Amino acid sequence: MRAWTYSNPVKIVFGTGALAQAKQAVAGRRYCLLTYNDHPVFDKLVARISQEIGEPTVIVRDVEPNPSFEGLRAACRSFAAAGIAPDVILAVGGGSVIDTAKVLSAGGGDFDRVQAYLEGRATADTLLDLPIIAVPTTAGTGSEVTCWATVWDTAAKKKYSLADARYYPEQAILDPELTVGVPRSLTLSTGLDALSHALESIWNVNANPVSASHAVSAAREIIEVLPALVGNPGDIGLRTRMMRASLSAGLAFSNTKTALAHSLSYYLTLHHGTVHGIACSFSLPAIMRSVIGHDDDCDAALRRIFGEDLEAGAERLETFLRNLGVSTTATDYGVTRDNWVRAIDDALLGERGRNFIGSREAVLASAA
Ligand SMILES: NC(=O)c1ccc[n+]([C@@H]2O[C@H](COP(=O)([O-])OP(=O)(O)OC[C@H]3O[C@@H](n4cnc5c(N)ncnc54)[C@H](O)[C@@H]3O)[C@@H](O)[C@H]2O)c1
Ligand SMILES: [Fe+2]
Repeated sequence: MRAWTYSNPVKIVFGTGALAQAKQAVAGRRYCLLTYNDHPVFDKLVARISQEIGEPTVIVRDVEPNPSFEGLRAACRSFAAAGIAPDVILAVGGGSVIDTAKVLSAGGGDFDRVQAYLEGRATADTLLDLPIIAVPTTAGTGSEVTCWATVWDTAAKKKYSLADARYYPEQAILDPELTVGVPRSLTLSTGLDALSHALESIWNVNANPVSASHAVSAAREIIEVLPALVGNPGDIGLRTRMMRASLSAGLAFSNTKTALAHSLSYYLTLHHGTVHGIACSFSLPAIMRSVIGHDDDCDAALRRIFGEDLEAGAERLETFLRNLGVSTTATDYGVTRDNWVRAIDDALLGERGRNFIGSREAVLASAA
C-alpha cells in the first residue's frame, strides 16, 4: 500500500451559540470584520459582533457572490482604508466571504499583488498572510477548513484558485444558528456543494483513509438530512447535522481537492450563470456510474454510502437529486450537447479534472 499523509491545521469550534467564542479568538487583536452588504441579517451581525468584541479597525462589506477581480479589488481598497493595518480578518459569511478573506490575507490593501500571482507574473513569496478567523453562515463550501479561494475573472471567463497552506484559517467557528435563516434555494445549493465535495474526494487520486472516512460520513448524512432540511428550514437539529456534515466534507476535500464534477461546474457557472452548488452536483450520478469498478478503494468507500449494489446506488443518487428539483441533464442548463462534450474534454484536462481517477471513455459514455 502506498504511503499517505493527512493534515489540517484549523482549530474548530462547533456548536449552537459558538459565535460567542469569536471574542476569545480575536484575542484583543486589531481586526477587520468582513461580511456581505446585501441582507439585513448581516447588519445585525455587524452590530452584535462590534458590541461583543469591540469596534473593528475596519469593516469591509463589499463582498459579492462568486468573488470577481473587480469585486476583490474593491474589497482590498476598503481594507486599505483602515489606515492602521488590522492583525486578523474575521470573516462572517458563506464561501464568497471566506474566499474573499483569503484574498485579503494575501493581498492586504493591494489586489494587484494577488492578481499578478494568479496570472503567473509573480511568485508566492510576494504574497502576505494575515491570519483569518472563519465564521460560516452557510453549510456547504467547507472554505473554513480549506487553504484555497476560488477567484472568478468574469470578463475573461476564467476561474483561478489562490491556494497555499498559509491560507488555512487560524480558526473556524461553526454556529448552526447562523444558518437558520438561509433561504431554501441556498440551503439546497450549499448542501449539494458539500455532497459534491465528499464524493469528489473519493474518486480522487489524492484520496486516503482519513479523507475517505470524513467523506463517507458526510455523504451519508447529507443524503439523509438535506431532503428533510429543505422541508423544515427552521429546525436547528437538522441545521446542526447539515453543518457538521459540510464540515466533514470540507475536512475530506481539504486534503484531496475536488475532481471532475467541480472542473465541469466552472464551465456552467462562467458561461450559463449556474449557481455553484447545482453546477457541481448535477453531474454526480453520471460521474459515479462512470467510475464504478475502476478502483477498489473508491468502490469500497462508495459502498459504505450507497450499499453493495453501486449501479443501484447511482440510480438512487439520481432520484435524490431529481426529488430535490435538480435536473441531472446538462442540456437543461442551457448548454448544447456538442459544447457539453467539449466541456467534458476540457474539464478532464483542467487542474481539478486531473484529480479524477476514472477514464475519459467511461465519462463520455455516461455523461455526454
Ligand atoms: N474555498 C473553498 O474551499 C470553496 C469551496 C466551495 C465553494 N467555494 C466558493 O464559495 C462561493 C459560494 O459560497 P456560498 O454558496 O456559501 O454562498 P455565497 O457566499 O456566495 O453567498 C450567496 C448569498 O447568500 C447570502 N447568505 C449567506 N449566508 C446567509 C444567511 N445566513 N442568511 C441569509 N442569506 C445568506 C449572501 O448574502 C449572498 O448573497 C463560490 O464562489 C464558490 O466558488 C469555495
Ligand atoms: Fe464546491
